[in-house]
Amino acid sequence: MNSLAWPLIRTTEQAALAAWPQTGCGDKNAIDGLAVAAMRQALNDIPMQGRIVIGEGEIDKAPMLYIGEEVGSGGPGVDIAVDPIEGTRMVAMGQSNALAVMAFAPAGSLLHAPDMYMKKLVVNRKARGAINLSLSLSDNLRNVARVLGKPLHELKMVTLDKPRSQSAIEEASALGVKVFALPDGDVAASVLTCQPDNVFDVMYTVGGAPEGVISACAVRAMKGDMQAELIDFCEAKGESDAHRRIATDERRRCVEMDVVVNQVYTLNELVSSQDILLSATGVTGGDLLQGISRTNEGVRTHTMLINGTDRTCNIINSLHS
Ligand code: FBP
Repeated sequence: MNSLAWPLIRTTEQAALAAWPQTGCGDKNAIDGLAVAAMRQALNDIPMQGRIVIGEGEIDKAPMLYIGEEVGSGGPGVDIAVDPIEGTRMVAMGQSNALAVMAFAPAGSLLHAPDMYMKKLVVNRKARGAINLSLSLSDNLRNVARVLGKPLHELKMVTLDKPRSQSAIEEASALGVKVFALPDGDVAASVLTCQPDNVFDVMYTVGGAPEGVISACAVRAMKGDMQAELIDFCEAKGESDAHRRIATDERRRCVEMDVVVNQVYTLNELVSSQDILLSATGVTGGDLLQGISRTNEGVRTHTMLINGTDRTCNIINSLHS
């Protein structure tokens, strides 16, 4: 997998560079389309037999690197989890924290699931083994605090600021836990939770399943812990006839892909290999990475490469002249 590191970095760089000029344009799908086209072109030059096992598109009806798509010019089998732009709305609205992100792992080692919603709970290495998504959020927060040796009022939980998160925010706040609710971007939130300086102790949210599997790659490489559960559209967004039709279709696709809605998946079931590469390039600047900037010599990108085998995390500052 190590030999694919540079091509992977170039792939997320190309996607970020393609999307960045459209910052503030207001059109999420146009931004996604540019990133997808750049990614697909870069992926098809990589000497691997790659397959998109989980990717985005249908939740937003966005342009896709679709699930099942084969990419690469031939070579070792690679499972790919992709979010061409994690935070398309942030790029569209000129807001911070958008990334182009992709993970590689040996064929057969990443959860193959539809692009539906997923409940996710992430902790860093100090709290490994202390989470159980079958228990309530309160029980998990108490257990993590106990293992970390912190009072609950010193525990920091990050989540997404969505209507569906409000009850979790109230539950955590009632315990005294400090809650940080980000508008978007649970991949960055998961990585920040696992980093050694531990900006956050816990990441808990309902977000996209592709972002969940990408996060699982980072969590596994950084020795943290994660559990996740696929949930259908009605559970995430509320009941209506239209939502029920989407949920029925999601459940049909889950059967086809041999995954189960409302079953707790452990970290090892989300990603079963340590041989992981994850690359994230900042599009707009944020807590995790600087965004793209223009200089006299060219355009600068900042990319984080997480390598599960070497257990390294490198920041690559590239000048594209
Ligand atoms: P995208 O820009 O790729 O849609 O992701 C942004 C994001 O905030 C993810 O981090 C999160 O998992 C997902 O959207 C949540 O979905 P929704 O925006 O539908 O609530």
